Amino acid sequence: MEANAIASKGLGSPAERLERGEVLYYPSAPFALPQGDDLEFLLRQELGSLAHKNISYNPANGKVNGFVRREAGQEARLQAIFAHFSTAATDWLSSLLPYREGWQLDRASFRPQEEATRRLRPKARNDLLHVDAFPGRPSRGNRILRVFANINPREPRIWVTSDPFAKLLKRYGEEAGLPGRAGSRWLSQLGRSIMGLLRPRVGRRSDYDLFMLRFHDYLKLNEDFQEKGPKYLHTFPPGSAWLAMTDTCSHSVLRGRFALEHSYFIAPAVLALPDESPPVLLRNASSSVSVPSASFSNRRAA
Ligand code: SIN
Ligand code: FE
Repeated sequence: MEANAIASKGLGSPAERLERGEVLYYPSAPFALPQGDDLEFLLRQELGSLAHKNISYNPANGKVNGFVRREAGQEARLQAIFAHFSTAATDWLSSLLPYREGWQLDRASFRPQEEATRRLRPKARNDLLHVDAFPGRPSRGNRILRVFANINPREPRIWVTSDPFAKLLKRYGEEAGLPGRAGSRWLSQLGRSIMGLLRPRVGRRSDYDLFMLRFHDYLKLNEDFQEKGPKYLHTFPPGSAWLAMTDTCSHSVLRGRFALEHSYFIAPAVLALPDESPPVLLRNASSSVSVPSASFSNRRAA
């Protein structure tokens, strides 16, 4: 396995590098992380139940979910810490990347579980390589940008990355079931109806969302890719931060606990390389995929 090899490509602007699937790494986080009592408080938090993969924060309404409630004032303190993190990470990102006219803040999360020993069902496992698609929050043709910070005082967080979406689509797209191919049209209708029944609040998924969910599952369950694909090892020490467009950068986490993360949906109109984005690559690979033209108002955390 090559150590941190993918981070050394370094050609192009930060936005271009991210959009092509690189991990951008910062040995010391370039935005404020929780310190002192706030950090200790955060490290004491536990995951509420197996139904939650992480403790999550919605910057649109300030709600925090997924933690064990133990003391008065706990929720308000969590909200304040998350709000601070969301603002600090977002302000820094808006100075680094040309996206602020076309992004939507998605969730932030705190990841208290040790990844090396987690027991999750195969499609939910974080240690299997995959590209991201959020089952409960369809991206509808927008890109997924994520920033991570390791707030563990002692231990690193260990990632492995592999080929970017463009390469994976060429290699495995047909086998995973491209949209519009024989049989997959009614399958995608069926998928939409079933998921609509299971999660009525998610809203209608585009063919693109259905493909990305299918591809996420396909890659996790594909032994050929998991075992034989190229692998690049990333060691993220305490206090470091990193960025990736995780719909393009295939990734897995092997070890570590106590990370903060924030996700953003990026509209096609503000991308540096719109023609290389997964919806366009998918449309080119499969003539009939419907690529929604996404647009947002510029919503920010309070
Ligand atoms: C993921 O696969 O999206 C999780 C990565 C992490 O928690 O480090
Ligand atoms: Fe992921």
